[in-house]
Amino acid sequence: MQRSELDRVVDEIRSFFTDNTTRMTEQVGRHPASAYYDPDWAARERRMLARYPMILGHESQIPNAGDFRTDDSTGVPVLLVRQADGTIKAFLNICRHRGARLCAEETGNRRLFVCPYHAWSFKTDGALMQTPRPEGFDGLERESYGLAELPCEVRHGLIWVQLERGSSIDVAAHLGRLDDELAAYGMADMVMERDEYLDFDMNWKFVIDGFLEVYHFAKLHQNSISPYFYGWHSPWDEFGRNGRLIGVRKSFDTIRDADTSVMSNWDLLKTIAVNYVLFPNTVLVWQGDHFESWTAYPGKRPDTCRVRVQSITRKEDAVPEKKEKWDRNWKILIGTVVAEDWAMCKTIQEVAPYMPGDELVFGRNEPGLHHFHGQIQAATDQMNT
Ligand code: FES
Ligand SMILES: [Fe+2]
Repeated sequence: MQRSELDRVVDEIRSFFTDNTTRMTEQVGRHPASAYYDPDWAARERRMLARYPMILGHESQIPNAGDFRTDDSTGVPVLLVRQADGTIKAFLNICRHRGARLCAEETGNRRLFVCPYHAWSFKTDGALMQTPRPEGFDGLERESYGLAELPCEVRHGLIWVQLERGSSIDVAAHLGRLDDELAAYGMADMVMERDEYLDFDMNWKFVIDGFLEVYHFAKLHQNSISPYFYGWHSPWDEFGRNGRLIGVRKSFDTIRDADTSVMSNWDLLKTIAVNYVLFPNTVLVWQGDHFESWTAYPGKRPDTCRVRVQSITRKEDAVPEKKEKWDRNWKILIGTVVAEDWAMCKTIQEVAPYMPGDELVFGRNEPGLHHFHGQIQAATDQMNT
């Protein structure tokens, strides 16, 4: 975060304390509960999601030419490959002969991808190389039967992919003012410390919702993280379809009346958690010395999802001597989220169809919810016009 913005945020938090308030919307909002369980709604959302850049990892995971990763998190089989020229390409992990899954391994290095069914082979740039018994395919326009490429861009070290082929990708434009703000963390020089999936029986949007307000801390997290955070006094800002919620740590008390102009950005940032809501399906959280990334993908049904949790750290922190610390961190993090946040959301998922008036209420003190769900709806509507 740039210094001027950080200073503004710190001042805003101070004023929230003074006035005992938080960021508010003009009015209370209402949202259809069916957004979480209706199959038609889910199908529209899935089509919409395919048109936006989704984060599938960090480039440090495939550093060398020929390095690859397969990725099924989105529900679409994707193959990411580092090219000879240093760029990264994304393909559908599907053989163009009769549709076998081309690459079964999760990660590795290849000069050629050979299909396990009839041994068609593809170069790392996706071009079709060989078709055994080529006379069987006389007349086939071989140049058109390379792997299907998906729009892909590396920005801030993250690998962004759009599932809709032929759509144009421009991550900087998508991030808007957040592009510079994220650059200030130097994420491109960081590495992926861990990258895991969790499948859960709830709509994917619940994962994002959990990062959009701190109002639930005092009750739901009373025995876990509540002692370390204020459940009120949170700045919220919007950046196009994206947003940013600041969680204020109790350690902010130490700087509330201090002269912060003499403090470094990194020390100031230790007193808050910065939740970047990157439309459509990721929340990136700056946790003082590393990023957590939570990306939620819709499952086959509206009440299922796959969640990808990643930890992105500075190189000097991703070393074996610190592994125990990260393990501990991870256990607490996943434990809290699964046992508290998602356990709660699962019960909401179950009763959502019975919600009186099919209506959920978004408080004035929950501006992130107004914005996120408004943007999901607007992007889905835009697709239909
Ligand atoms: S399906 Fe891949 S070679 Fe036949
Ligand atoms: Fe929570």
